[in-house]
Amino acid sequence: MNTHSNTVELIRKKRGGGVLTRMEIESLIGGYVTGDVPDYQMSAFLMAVFFNGMDTGETAVFTDVMLHSGSIIDLSSIPGRKVDKHSTGGVGDKVSLILAPMVAACGVAVPMISGRGLGHTGGTLDKLESIPGFRTGLTLDEYRDVIRETGLVLSGQTAEIAPADRRMYALRDVTATVESIPLIAGSIMSKKLAEGIDALVLDVKTGDGAFMQSYDDSVSLATALVSIGNSCGKETVAFITGMDQPLGMMIGNWLEVLESAECLKGKNVPDLMELTYVLGGAMVHLGGKARTLAEGITECRSAIWSGRAYEKFLQVVERQGGDASFIRDPGRYPASKFSLEVRATSPGYITGFATRRIGVLAVELGAGRQRVEDPVDPKAGIVLSKKIGARVGKDDLLAVIKTDREEVAGRAVREFSSCVTIGDSPLPAKSCVRATVDKDGVHAWTTPRTY
Ligand code: URA
Repeated sequence: MNTHSNTVELIRKKRGGGVLTRMEIESLIGGYVTGDVPDYQMSAFLMAVFFNGMDTGETAVFTDVMLHSGSIIDLSSIPGRKVDKHSTGGVGDKVSLILAPMVAACGVAVPMISGRGLGHTGGTLDKLESIPGFRTGLTLDEYRDVIRETGLVLSGQTAEIAPADRRMYALRDVTATVESIPLIAGSIMSKKLAEGIDALVLDVKTGDGAFMQSYDDSVSLATALVSIGNSCGKETVAFITGMDQPLGMMIGNWLEVLESAECLKGKNVPDLMELTYVLGGAMVHLGGKARTLAEGITECRSAIWSGRAYEKFLQVVERQGGDASFIRDPGRYPASKFSLEVRATSPGYITGFATRRIGVLAVELGAGRQRVEDPVDPKAGIVLSKKIGARVGKDDLLAVIKTDREEVAGRAVREFSSCVTIGDSPLPAKSCVRATVDKDGVHAWTTPRTY
């Protein structure tokens, strides 16, 4: 089936809005993994899916074929329920770095397989690899050993895990085919279903910096993800959360590791920690270590305040080859060539950020990739001084931009300034969490913010 002309016919069928059969999807994905289907044909197929979508059954088959393009890890020899979290991607989203050790410190094992930066969003793997020596390319045996010893593992896709996604993810990143519900669902769920979990918490972003910018599209994506997870026997819940502004104060790989370490030591960065506690609380609840979400949040807070979460982070960093001395003493880390201040041009209140454009700027500064083979600069990024709702005077510091790239440094301050909206009156504070989606449907977020 993997002949040149058959592949062309499959692309043509999808381009015309047809629904592919299991055999056709298997032929395409199987051919891609073996190399019989080249990148240029897969790119054309991805673009056809981007424009024409997939129906529910086709998305489920697509995910299943992606999942079975590799091995499914068996962690049944590790006691207790294993729970992971995955985000659909955002700007400044370093939740995984804080949440994984925090939840593991509560006694729930966290096997986490993450991705690299995608489009304008950052990736957990790039953040972890900014720690000198940190190894994300573990073998399956190492993956099992690390989680058995430390209670968590922070890995990239091993060669065996969803190899189809591994290649397609990189291709989508550079062919403008990321923002598609079936492609995101297949990508996320094929990795998550392979990693040996019992339950899954999903953070589905919505707003300007999210792949799904409208609330309704985010709910559709969450519903697709939750339905695939539950139909595969993994208890799956999703939270719809705001990406109207970067999460926390730092954007960029090493900068985000630093901010995470501060939060693990007890610093309260309000939007970041609100979200981390809600998602972590849900994981502790699904992991059987708390009777309710609220109790799970209490457990997570105690893991942070006791120092157990930070210790767990250092333990896993060292276990995966990272040099934790850079986290203990960040002054040793190399500095960017350019450090540029952005100041307010008028007084008022911050009312909005062009978050997607800020993500694109971070990529241009060196924090992400424009081509598959591009290296990332771990130091590059943006440190925010103000968030939505903050009062600013003229010339107040809004952000500091860090880069080694002279050609971008010249325009970065102007570009960032144009991404910030300053109005006359403050916006009312709102929770980062907008709704939850589980097997019973969509629920407005009403849990009192007692944390
Ligand atoms: N995260 C993934 O793993 N895949 C996507 O397509 C988007 C976010």
